Amino acid sequence: MQSITIHAPAKVNLALEVCGLLPGGFHDLDMIMQAVTLYETIRLEKRPAGELTLECRAADGTLAADIPTDARNLAWRAARLFLDAAGIADGVFVSVTKAVPSQAGMADGSADAAGVLVGLDLLFETGMTVPQLCALGEQLGSDVPFCVVGGTCMCEGRGEKLRKLPNMPDCIFVVVKPEFSVSTPALYKKIDEVTIAKRPNHMAMESALISGDLDQVAKNVLNVFDPVVTADHLELNYIKSLFHQYGAISYQMTGSGSATFAIVSEFEVAAVICNMLKDNYPDVFICKPV
Ligand code: C5P
Repeated sequence: MQSITIHAPAKVNLALEVCGLLPGGFHDLDMIMQAVTLYETIRLEKRPAGELTLECRAADGTLAADIPTDARNLAWRAARLFLDAAGIADGVFVSVTKAVPSQAGMADGSADAAGVLVGLDLLFETGMTVPQLCALGEQLGSDVPFCVVGGTCMCEGRGEKLRKLPNMPDCIFVVVKPEFSVSTPALYKKIDEVTIAKRPNHMAMESALISGDLDQVAKNVLNVFDPVVTADHLELNYIKSLFHQYGAISYQMTGSGSATFAIVSEFEVAAVICNMLKDNYPDVFICKPV
């Protein structure tokens, strides 16, 4: 095999709880993450020894000149790390076609890195185990191990301690990425200074997942960052009011934002919500749990 193409899914947070601080300044998290059918496309091609090059393209195929293609890019670092860890002298060309919005809380860069790790393992037939790939992912970023595993997971610690949960019941997500972005480090700093009024109930969410009860899953969707970001960006209330008005079961910001999603049970409802949003928000996506 000379090349391989991988589809790397984005995620949303069904729940996000900040429990405290870890040694080293990172935060101790309890998160329930869900992979969704919004995919980055990653093409990997074998190249002569010593060569490691990356290109990034927008969803329409045009080159994304503003995205760094060197060691500043997590996909490049993932390829370097994998080749070194596996002792492979061959080079690689990595082409990432972006479909997932950046600075959205949907793990686009982490999905790219996980896709490179999983794809290179297949391309070079190195036979790494999922825990081995996750251990490499952990060195790249907090969300990379989840992006390697996918599905529905409880993620603890920095986000790297994973436990598989039953798959989320079938539903539709409508995701909106507003124009504003949130600085993740600044948001983590801010959460230390506020009183968290409402925290997710992970036991209730897990029971709902076990029994496959979509209404209960939706009822327990909660991200402690949501009210903190909404306080500074009231437009999230406008988006959520539209979600509510047009029949979403529930809605919440994902990760450190700014993408915000609704859970709906019927495609017709998702289509109506998209129609109501698309004039003001070019970045609206319909996807499903995967
Ligand atoms: O690991 P990742 O690159 O996603 O983290 C981005 C930033 O978010 C970190 O530099 C840190 O400031 C903050 N963070 C944190 N605790 C975590 C994950 C991220 O404080 N568990």
